[in-house]
Amino acid sequence: MKAKEYLSIMQNILQHIDEGVHVLDKNGNTIIYNEAMSKLEKMESKDVIKKPFGEVFKNLNSENSTLLKALKFREATINLKQDYLNKDGKEITTINTTLPIIINDEVIAVVEVAKNITQMTEMSHTILKLQNEIGKPETTKSKKIKKYYFNNIVGSSGNFTEVIDRAKKASKNSASVFIFGETGTGKELIAQSIHYEGPRKDKPFIAQNCAALPESLLEGLLFGTSKGGFTGAVDRAGLFEQANGGTLLLDEINSMPYELQAKLLRVLQENYIRRVGGTSDIPIDVRIISTSNESPDVILKEGKIRKDLYYRLNVIQLNVPPLRYRRDDILMLANMFIHKYNDRFNKEVLSMSKDVQDSLLKYDYPGNVRELENIIMSAISMADDDEIILNNNHFTSLDSDREHINIQHQMGTAGIDEYLEGLEERIIKKTLENYNYNITRSAEALKIKRQTLQHKIKKYNIRC
Ligand SMILES: Nc1ncnc2c1ncn2[C@@H]1O[C@H](COP(=O)(O)OP(=O)(O)OP(=O)(O)O)[C@@H](O)[C@H]1O
Ligand SMILES: [Mg+2]
Repeated sequence: MKAKEYLSIMQNILQHIDEGVHVLDKNGNTIIYNEAMSKLEKMESKDVIKKPFGEVFKNLNSENSTLLKALKFREATINLKQDYLNKDGKEITTINTTLPIIINDEVIAVVEVAKNITQMTEMSHTILKLQNEIGKPETTKSKKIKKYYFNNIVGSSGNFTEVIDRAKKASKNSASVFIFGETGTGKELIAQSIHYEGPRKDKPFIAQNCAALPESLLEGLLFGTSKGGFTGAVDRAGLFEQANGGTLLLDEINSMPYELQAKLLRVLQENYIRRVGGTSDIPIDVRIISTSNESPDVILKEGKIRKDLYYRLNVIQLNVPPLRYRRDDILMLANMFIHKYNDRFNKEVLSMSKDVQDSLLKYDYPGNVRELENIIMSAISMADDDEIILNNNHFTSLDSDREHINIQHQMGTAGIDEYLEGLEERIIKKTLENYNYNITRSAEALKIKRQTLQHKIKKYNIRC
């Protein structure tokens, strides 16, 4: 290959690598100053190239500049961490290697290669700060979470038991599971059951919410950090390493930063992780369960999840139906929660009045099972120690908000007039039923004239 071609290739490579490269000739003039170095030091390449180093970087001398040291004293510097302010006044941290190039005992050039680790340093500082705030390092903190198994899962609606049957099958292998369901539908419960009833049950189950942290911090948490010789950096295993042999639950995967998704995909493809700032590949064997409270269609369409990652995560898909689409489970769940909170609050509630059951069955539960649990918990806490039946009075504290949401739902596409008429019709029917279709007593109860009631009975075509 001709020298000219070779040079052209080299120049191309140099412009496209992430490391900054600065080369001086034997006279101390800059002959190479690549794009990455220019970005790092916030210097225009034209202001540096072909100029004497000492003129451009006036505050540097052979005492404090590794390039000049290499040029003057043939001194090589390997992986030296440097903190300095760039031209914009931003604090930059780099790891530099500077070498003299010696031919026939003569220094013909000096080369500096700089790796920008500013972001990593910042990330490591944030992790340390958070660790201090939390008190103990993550690795030694033992998270006491309640373990869930399939027999803790209550529900007998066909659309729900179908999902649970699929989850049980999934627990027998290690394929990635993607659980989609609205908030409070029981995604975590299902994920834990899959883990604790499968072959990985004696290994860790670790859950991480992907929406809770900024990208750099989440990256360090998932993959770990490595002592790279920069201040504060610690050798720290990430959640992948901590979950090795077990299961990692990536909650709200739809909120994971896009860039990080690419890194996650690489890990899943290769089954190796590399700690941030580290150099060695660590083999991992982790089952991934991910959850999303938005439908896969939406997150794919809106570009919230990378397609390639989604296909890897979605080997087994579980769509957990919202509670309003499995109303048969409402009372069963409510009774289970009554027992749970009886124990907790030392109460003796046995059941619920018919009215309470009716309203629970009608309500739409935007917060799903979690909301139902809160409703029952609050009602039980309102019950007297010797009360055995929950009635409407125990639920009043929550009524106004719920009623509002409920009414909106019941109104559907109807306008207020139509809705009110429907409501009036229902009230009249119910009152007539209660008074055995006696018009006089029903009118009294409704506080309207007999004739008015008769008129309405006709209007709504009510059969008496
Ligand atoms: N089928 C069920 N049987 C018993 N308890 C349930 C069931 N579904 C949900 N729960 C209870 O409801 C609460 C919420 O469940 P979970 O945390 O699994 O919901 P989630 O889908 O992960 O919600 P989010 O999207 O908000 O994280 C938990 O206390 C859980 O025990
Ligand atoms: Mg959850």
